[in-house]
Amino acid sequence: MRMYDIIVKKRNGEVLSDEEIAFFVKGYTQGTIPDYQASALMMAIYFQGMNEQETATLTMEMAHSGDMLDLSAIKGLKADKHSTGGVGDKTSLVLTPLAASIGIPVAKMSGRGLGHTGGTIDKLESFPGFSTDISEEIFIKNVNTIGIAIAGQTKNMTPADKKLYALRDVTGTVDSIPLIASSIMSKKLAAGADVIVLDVKTGSGAFMKTEDDAVRLAEEMVKIGNNVGRKTMAVISNMDEPLGYAVGNAIEVKEAIDTLNGRGPEDLLELCLTIGSLMAVGTGVAADVTQARELLMQKLNDGSALKKLAEFVEAQGGDSSPVYDTSLLPQASIHYELKAPRDGYVVHIQSERVGICAMKLGGGRETKDSSIDLSVGILIRKKVGDAVRAGDTVAELYANDENKLQAAVSELSAAYSYSDTPVEKPRLIKRIIGG
Ligand code: URA
Repeated sequence: MRMYDIIVKKRNGEVLSDEEIAFFVKGYTQGTIPDYQASALMMAIYFQGMNEQETATLTMEMAHSGDMLDLSAIKGLKADKHSTGGVGDKTSLVLTPLAASIGIPVAKMSGRGLGHTGGTIDKLESFPGFSTDISEEIFIKNVNTIGIAIAGQTKNMTPADKKLYALRDVTGTVDSIPLIASSIMSKKLAAGADVIVLDVKTGSGAFMKTEDDAVRLAEEMVKIGNNVGRKTMAVISNMDEPLGYAVGNAIEVKEAIDTLNGRGPEDLLELCLTIGSLMAVGTGVAADVTQARELLMQKLNDGSALKKLAEFVEAQGGDSSPVYDTSLLPQASIHYELKAPRDGYVVHIQSERVGICAMKLGGGRETKDSSIDLSVGILIRKKVGDAVRAGDTVAELYANDENKLQAAVSELSAAYSYSDTPVEKPRLIKRIIGG
């Protein structure tokens, strides 16, 4: 078999066989197929697409390119969730302890962020000493004893995806539905959970700008998961404005803690309850979503979910004091209030620009080796649909450097647009697929 023939076949719009896809994934992972040929194939797939069978084969080949986590030593059905990434997305920080508090075994693999703000792991490092660098043995023990563990991906998990994603990132081939679906699902399948709930974002701050594309991506991933025996469901959620109010790292942890205390933003809570209910029904912890919601609300209201967060932080080496006193989280030294330039209604907040603003403050990574400032961030005060008077504070910025603050302020001002006429609040949950 020759890589050249595989590239030409896909370039001409033909369907690749399982053997050809396996040949490519093995060869590229082992280094016998060079980057330039892999790039050409990625571009051909970008333009010609892949059918269901091709996408499923690519996913399984990538999943099996490295270690597959064996979670059989954990009792019961294990659940995982995944978000395609959004601005202010701190869902995992709320949802994982909340789900664990009703008895769902949460075994989650998370990543660091490359982009606007840190990923879940970076955010969790706001708790001094917290580490996701735990052995498989501790990971399994923690899920069995306290119901929750979050680990970083092991070095040898889905090496094919690591190489391919890095290549796609620099060759303009990230936003292809079969490539995204296989990349995400290969990691989820290798991570071993029985029940997977995907949060597919759509809107200005998401990979999938339109709802139709988000639905296509979600349907593709749900099919892949269910076909290999993992109960997979997807929620399509709005990312035409940031989720909740906080965007950054420690500031998002604070908002997550507030939510577990019953004082969080409505949209964030709604998303957590929606995903949590699907996890509960999928794992058999609840009979239906109505019962699941009742259980989740009960554990939120009686403080069990907050206590679970503290237990989880401590089990992974962290100091849990900030769970009960958020002033102990990293704090920035400069505070700035962005004012509305006119009377009107907030018609749009370009999430992507809010994310860039967080990055300019120092809260995100520009390259994979840059360090991030956990204390900086943004607190949105006016969201889409809110009425404003000229001079009202629409957002607060927390910074540690005046120059970075100035750059961030102009980015954030440009993210907001206003109208003279009232604006309807956007719907957060657009669709549920496979639930
Ligand atoms: N996230 C991933 O893990 N892979 C992609 O291809 C896109 C988003």
